[in-house]
Amino acid sequence: MLEKSLRFFYSVLFCVIFTLILNHTTMAECNSNDGFLPQPKGFSTKAIHVGQDAEQWNSMAVVPPISMSTTFKQFGPGQHAGFEYGRSGNPTRDVLERCLASLDNGRFGLTFASGLGATTTVITMLQSGDHVVAGDDLYGGTNRLLRNVAIKMGIQIDFVDLTNLKLVEQAIKPNTKLFWMETPTNPLLKVVDIRAVSEIAHKQPGIVVVVDNTFLSSYLQRPLDLGADVVMYSLTKYMNGHSDVIMGAMIMNDEKIYERLKYLQNAAGIVPSPFDCYLVNRSLKTLALRMEKHKSNSLAIATFLETHPKVERVLHPGLKSHPQHELAKRQTYGHSGIMSFYIRGGLEESSNFLKALQVFTLAESLGGYESLAELPSVMTHASVPIEQREELGITDGLLRLSVGLEDVDDLIADLKQALDKA
Ligand SMILES: Cc1ncc(COP(=O)(O)O)c(C=O)c1O
Repeated sequence: MLEKSLRFFYSVLFCVIFTLILNHTTMAECNSNDGFLPQPKGFSTKAIHVGQDAEQWNSMAVVPPISMSTTFKQFGPGQHAGFEYGRSGNPTRDVLERCLASLDNGRFGLTFASGLGATTTVITMLQSGDHVVAGDDLYGGTNRLLRNVAIKMGIQIDFVDLTNLKLVEQAIKPNTKLFWMETPTNPLLKVVDIRAVSEIAHKQPGIVVVVDNTFLSSYLQRPLDLGADVVMYSLTKYMNGHSDVIMGAMIMNDEKIYERLKYLQNAAGIVPSPFDCYLVNRSLKTLALRMEKHKSNSLAIATFLETHPKVERVLHPGLKSHPQHELAKRQTYGHSGIMSFYIRGGLEESSNFLKALQVFTLAESLGGYESLAELPSVMTHASVPIEQREELGITDGLLRLSVGLEDVDDLIADLKQALDKA
């Protein structure tokens, strides 16, 4: 009898110790995150559940239905159930916008027909004579929109190195209304201190700070928590992650900014299709899982490239050699799959390398499950004036990779054989 009780006592003790060890390991894993900010719990639960309640539909569908109707029946003139006409609002879009807002810890979300459509909508908040401070290393299409469209509308723009806070302070004018930044920047992966830049900008009332968070997604960086007013996305990239939708979004806390942008979303009409909203809403369910794999794959590749004799320099915020590695660790929950590197030589070597790739696809865009490689000077950033490209270091030897979700050994082997042929 005594032996039986002892055995029971020891088995309970074993279970308690085992559970304690397991919990400790899991917590340590959550908190280590390679020195980057520890990811708070609950992200994937929000991605899977916020806005998705089955009870909002008569059918109780667990997966939100796609509402393709362009118009909605009214009980009486002006009396409707929340939707009137598909441009001003749509149930599937509504589900996605609520889910997106929650992932950035924001109150309001809005979606647009493309990332550039979202940017265009912000530009329509401005008037002729207003001044914009924009980062000097932006996605080529944003640069083109600001230079070739906004400036022609009488908007003044200064392109500034936002990693230099002195230059940020000096750039503000009495008519400054908007700060536009990307971090990490495209394609040079410079990291901008969102909190510091927002604090400087907000010293002057009325300046709206927008952060294009496309490169990191809401899983890896949450600019509203750092003081920005609006987070902008090309959802086309990581947030959708399957390279089959073009869409944009903006998330914010300020109700006045939301009301203005919502008005412009309808007034300018740059809205997404319900089917695309359904696809992005589906993709958000796996965002955390995908970003973790992009993160580990890209760091392994960056580490490999850093030791390769044909590589001059690797630009990746997760590497200790990155000039703003410490800032990246303070401000983000990790790095994504985007990185750039300088190959030794110029156009001939970079072209030979790109043509030799077999697993990586030579194509523009980024953030999908498939690995892509491109030459910014000739492809994504060809619209940036050559003088600005030279000043920034966007040379013909600078290559950008979007590291996907394939097996990392296959990716490294592919890069190795292509470098041999460069
Ligand atoms: C950082 C960034 N912002 C904005 C955009 C524009 O988004 P879209 O292509 O969805 O219009 C892109 C597109 O490549 C991008 O890379």
